[in-house]
Amino acid sequence: MESPFKADVVKGKVALVTGGGSGIGYEISLQLGKHGASVAIMGRRKHVVDSAVAALHSYSIPAIGFDGDVRKEEDAARVVESTFKHFGKLDILVNAAAGNFLVPAEDLSPNGFRTVVDIDTIGTFRMCREALKYLKKGGPGRDPSTGGLIINITALLHYGATWYQIHASAAKAAVDSITRSLALEWGTDHDIRVNGIAPGAIDDTAGVIKLAPEEILSQIKQKPLYKFGEKWDIAMAALYLASDAGKFVNGTIMVVDGGQWLSRPRYVSNDAVKQLSRREEIKSRVKPAGVPKSKL
Ligand code: HXC
Repeated sequence: MESPFKADVVKGKVALVTGGGSGIGYEISLQLGKHGASVAIMGRRKHVVDSAVAALHSYSIPAIGFDGDVRKEEDAARVVESTFKHFGKLDILVNAAAGNFLVPAEDLSPNGFRTVVDIDTIGTFRMCREALKYLKKGGPGRDPSTGGLIINITALLHYGATWYQIHASAAKAAVDSITRSLALEWGTDHDIRVNGIAPGAIDDTAGVIKLAPEEILSQIKQKPLYKFGEKWDIAMAALYLASDAGKFVNGTIMVVDGGQWLSRPRYVSNDAVKQLSRREEIKSRVKPAGVPKSKL
């Protein structure tokens, strides 16, 4: 789809995107690049990172890739440093790396739980912490008047509760908490904006392919408001936050899901509810609720 943003809205900025080799992370990298940013991507699988970088180069986007695992302290430090060395500064950190799998809570080992928290939650904090010195106002290579931006890709699993993803749900709830705490502390002290994007079901991503196989999908599709989003929708939200249009947005979690999280099963049709409502209204006017029946 054609972008509604001007092609230079993030011109001159440097972004580092974890999990940028595929899925939502790649699309964010692509759209930031198409709108003027230079992009570093980090991912665990070298061949995926390499082919993503080649694809970005095919759009003439200045891009570099690093293989690394956000669970490893030394990888996080190396990738942030290398990004700075390569591009001379860092303006935007996007934490899109995540891990998840379907499992009933009773079958999940503590190590399985820890693995996902280590990627999603601690990995996010680890990357933020390593990037701080470059993102803060007055940091090396920065325009001295402004701080940078962090975008944490989160989820909607913990809005209410979601079956069979207790680990990822807890991990993403903590990510949202990190987003708000850093928005407060680093917004105040370092002029860094920290925001989250919570995607709904996005077509052609691991979140849908791996976590919503057809057996589950056919049930979800029966919900009101249900439709797939596109990776593009999430990338446009990121672009808004990264552009000057988002300069006053800090500490927010943008839900980009078409309103899906609001949906509840409809028990009564529109027409039936109108009739019911009229009947109950008439009844309540004749005999108002809460009026004592006894005359004593
Ligand atoms: C039960 C499982 C399991 C499964 C792993 N484990 N898969 N337990 N069911 N299907 C357990 C293992 O038994 C082990 O615990 C522990 O988790 C670590 O497993 P490893 O395979 O050694 O870990 P690793 O190779 O590092 O793989 C990490 C991973 C894997 C998260 C487990 O799935 C992965 O790499 N995924 C990468 C990409 C990904 O998942 N993307 C989806 C993101 S979607 P024990 O006790 O046996 O040692 C997303 C969207 C969220 O985040 C919102 C959706 C709507």
